[in-house]
Amino acid sequence: MATRILTRRDIERIADPDEILQAVEETFRAHGLQQTQMPPKSYLFYPRYHGDLRTMPAYIEPMGATGVKIVNVHLQNKARGFPTVMAVIVLNDPTTGYPLAIMDGTWLTALRTGAAGAIATKYLARPESRRIGFIGCGVQAETQLLMTLRVFRLQELAAFDVDEPRRNAFCAMAAERYGLRIVGSNRLQDVYTCDIITTTTPSTEPILQNEGVRPGTHINAIGADAPGKEELDPAILQRALIVVDSWEQAVHSGEINVPIDQGLITREDVYAELGEIVAGLKPGRTRPDQVTVFDSTGLAIQDIASAYVVWTKARTQAVGLEIDIVGVG
Ligand SMILES: NC(=O)c1ccc[n+]([C@@H]2O[C@H](COP(=O)([O-])OP(=O)(O)OC[C@H]3O[C@@H](n4cnc5c(N)ncnc54)[C@H](O)[C@@H]3O)[C@@H](O)[C@H]2O)c1
Repeated sequence: MATRILTRRDIERIADPDEILQAVEETFRAHGLQQTQMPPKSYLFYPRYHGDLRTMPAYIEPMGATGVKIVNVHLQNKARGFPTVMAVIVLNDPTTGYPLAIMDGTWLTALRTGAAGAIATKYLARPESRRIGFIGCGVQAETQLLMTLRVFRLQELAAFDVDEPRRNAFCAMAAERYGLRIVGSNRLQDVYTCDIITTTTPSTEPILQNEGVRPGTHINAIGADAPGKEELDPAILQRALIVVDSWEQAVHSGEINVPIDQGLITREDVYAELGEIVAGLKPGRTRPDQVTVFDSTGLAIQDIASAYVVWTKARTQAVGLEIDIVGVG
């Protein structure tokens, strides 16, 4: 027996976005059918360093996949020369508990987050959606776009970021790599014209205001994943069909955490968990004029499903280093 060590370079080489998208959709279905175990994330907070560390365990029974992710979010890391988010995933054998793999989870976190946004968009956006908008043009924005392009024939993109060079680089990439037409300049107003709006900032104050949001818009609220974070005007949530990835996590740390704390919305205002829609237990969008919001906090099942897909491929292709870490071999 040996534990496979997979570095970020290994993951980047073998992770196939299509395979990850499919695995994440399957795992949302399993979650909807209550075939998963996933205690809510546990957090350690480092206010002095503007950061936190989370552990995220999961078991996806139909896939036979289990393990834990350890991930940080440090808001001042750019200045320190580190990414905001870094992660390691340990994949275990559910039969014996043996650690099958220890792998970088940084790129997989971004891919699986992109996959969740894309899946929500598939079930909630209007089918004729062609224009996508971004608030925040960092790492998560990149994979939201990568994955959403796999489920929608997007043609146009508008983007806003407080860091204008970053916004411009993101738009240049979108035009060059995907042939998207860039609409407008670095202005929030341009984002309101989009069919699908994706917010991927670490903001603790609403950025997207209700007045500008058009009927029929689908919003992926990705950035809020810790208590106190929010990107949307609560009035958007008051009028929208709200879908969360997990009720427990969303109420604690998702886009709904602040408005729920303030009594502006209640549990009854949350329509469904995404898994219930993917499993066919509830319909997605039902009217073209509905505003729909997907509140993503990021689920351990997304990580473990993605890690399992990559580990399976690494085994077949003999990628990575094998070490008997626990000394049973
Ligand atoms: N839901 C999930 O599953 C999930 C997964 C990973 C990360 N996240 C969260 O997503 C957020 C972004 O992560 P990232 O890895 O892309 O970080 P990042 O640092 O790579 O990118 C964030 C971008 O947002 C911009 N920004 C910050 N404040 C802004 C504002 N008020 N208006 C416009 N732009 C603004 C920054 O300039 C930067 O370009 C973080 O809050 C992170 O915790 C969520």
